[in-house]
Amino acid sequence: MDRINNWKLFRYEEVESTNDTAKELCSDQRENFYVVTAQRQTKGRGRRGRQWISQEGNLFFSLALEFETEKLGSMVLLTSLSLLQTIKTYNPNADVALKWPNDVLLNNAKISGILIEKAIGHYWVIGIGVNIKKTPVSKEINYDVISLEQSGIHTTADMFMKNFLQIFSQNMVLLETQGFDKLKNLWLKYAKDLGKTIKVQLEHKTLEGLFSGIDNNGFLLLKTETGIITITAGEIFYG
Ligand code: BTN
Repeated sequence: MDRINNWKLFRYEEVESTNDTAKELCSDQRENFYVVTAQRQTKGRGRRGRQWISQEGNLFFSLALEFETEKLGSMVLLTSLSLLQTIKTYNPNADVALKWPNDVLLNNAKISGILIEKAIGHYWVIGIGVNIKKTPVSKEINYDVISLEQSGIHTTADMFMKNFLQIFSQNMVLLETQGFDKLKNLWLKYAKDLGKTIKVQLEHKTLEGLFSGIDNNGFLLLKTETGIITITAGEIFYG
């Protein structure tokens, strides 16, 4: 059995989606921390029902771990911050930024995606895709994308995942021992356009206001003409 620190690791050549495999594996509930990775995904999923193009050479993995639903917002930010910090271990001067709630931008283009889904009991599955070698191209992608390779960072999916797990685990300890404040401030340090005007697409409407921060649940605070609005879910457009 393969382990990386506390994580029980399952490697596959091909799965439909590492999120689905992780959900199945953690249903035995024998371990606290599972990681599932695959060289290929045939049905990689993105957020909002989108497809996640899964080209070989890129990284696809899912973590399964237990936490309370109230922690969901902080776990999302912890994950994106950990991805950003992992990129910085390769190039401390990399032009990286965080876009609420869970995108990491490199040179202003999307480098990774995070899809968090509920699993059995208190388990959650955090699915992560990172463009390591290839930059996906598709008519469906209406935003800029980049790969690490393209930005001059040469690594493998496996190396990146190992580095990430180390940093993610350290951040979990930080969250448990010191609460969300420290992580939140670190996250805000890299937040794109904090203090600037943004547009947020909600399910049925778009709001415009000043991106004034993140609350203690990891929700976005938008200062509008009618006051500060707390946004739990949505997609940011910068304007
Ligand atoms: C997004 O839309 O930005 C989220 C993309 C998440 C993709 C990852 S790849 C590993 C895991 N398995 C999936 O099917 N999706 C996630």
